[in-house]
Amino acid sequence: MTKLWGGRFQKSAENWVDEFGASIGFDQQLVMEDIEGSIAHVTMLGAQGILDSKDVEQILGGLAELKHSAEAGELEFSVANEDIHLNLEKMLTDKIGPVGGKLHTGRSRNDQVATDMHLFLKKRVAEVVDLIETFQKTILKKAEQHVETIAPGYTHLQRAQPISFAHHLMAYFWMLERDKERFNESMKRIDILPLGAGAMAGTTFPIDREKSAELLGFSAVYANSMDAVSDRDFIVEFLSNASLLMTHLSRFAEEIIIWSTDEFKFIELDDAFSTGSSIMPQKKNPDMAELIRGKTGRVYGNLMGLLTVLKGTPLTYNKDMQEDKEGMFDSVHTILGALKIFEGMVRTMTVKTEKLHQAVHSDFSNATELADYLATKGMPFREAHEVTGKLVFTCIQRGIFLLDLPLEDMQSESKLIEQDVYDVLSPEAAVRRRNSLGGTGFDQVRLQLEKAKACL
Ligand code: ARG
Repeated sequence: MTKLWGGRFQKSAENWVDEFGASIGFDQQLVMEDIEGSIAHVTMLGAQGILDSKDVEQILGGLAELKHSAEAGELEFSVANEDIHLNLEKMLTDKIGPVGGKLHTGRSRNDQVATDMHLFLKKRVAEVVDLIETFQKTILKKAEQHVETIAPGYTHLQRAQPISFAHHLMAYFWMLERDKERFNESMKRIDILPLGAGAMAGTTFPIDREKSAELLGFSAVYANSMDAVSDRDFIVEFLSNASLLMTHLSRFAEEIIIWSTDEFKFIELDDAFSTGSSIMPQKKNPDMAELIRGKTGRVYGNLMGLLTVLKGTPLTYNKDMQEDKEGMFDSVHTILGALKIFEGMVRTMTVKTEKLHQAVHSDFSNATELADYLATKGMPFREAHEVTGKLVFTCIQRGIFLLDLPLEDMQSESKLIEQDVYDVLSPEAAVRRRNSLGGTGFDQVRLQLEKAKACL
């Protein structure tokens, strides 16, 4: 079979060489973008008088038909035609004859593939941003229902201080807010058109790159043709943003998993987001959360993969760059899926308020309250910390909690302690009184929810 670039060759490659070099197996996902890019390119060629209007019309007609077939999923790609660009060009010439060969005037697959990738990511990043925002809305809604639900807050996964459960959920809202911001900011660098860079040095044809940019909805064109065909920064940046997003989702997933255990039982996942065990009938596993945690690995891997591919490549295009695709597609697919699943999982989960209530009433997470109480009464905080620690130790020995300790016993450590200590020690008071800006106090959490709404 003759290659579209076969003129210089005397001998054809072995089948397995073709197979190894082909990207059609995965870059067919760029079919729409490739056609869009070609439509803009040929329109520009016509407007510049590089191709006459009859040719342009014929090519546009052929491309429209290809687009139609692509939408219907009717195109049949072949490895012999290597990649999406050559496959489509072949289909075009099969359809409209040799005039189809004029489409590639003043263009190279190098600027073409870079253009496709920019177009593709522009659309997908917009989808990612939308899904992040949907998820944020769900978190916000859940948080609104749990402002006054007190839960244990942790450091080192040890009970630390009581918190509003809404405050805990909202921490993820803000991580996602920064993720959204990062994806939005990256748009500026995705929104640049490489088309017109040719193979790498520009072209002798009097093309109008600004016109192509306008037709494709890009805000700018690459200023340097060599950079244009070599740049994969925008993909690295996407993979990096995707990795950080997955870090956040993975941490949240880990909490969902912990919270669903019998040991915690702070939440219960909806049946729709859980699975059973094939052997243990009692099990309800948080598979989706585990899978999101697990899939974080491949998203990191895709970032490392592309960085490594790029690091040794001289300017400009090298075939190595074909390796930019599968990881990117995979990360797009993974984060879109993870966001959708996570949103549903949080929306449908039940928060076990009684269990949380019970938890905060049977621990020492109010110990800081006692230390703060003593400090407020003038005792240096270090000393207050020591006194409180001793009282905690006394409680542990007796198998009781601070609220159960009689006043005389407290006073044996410090005369500063009076009856009002019991009001301060209640977990509700502990939360309410943490009214510093950004703290877990109910008023602060309400303020935070207002700020969050303003971000959506
Ligand atoms: N399939 C190639 C890729 O994805 C398209 C660009 C090929 N360019 C070339 N000069 N071989 O990178």
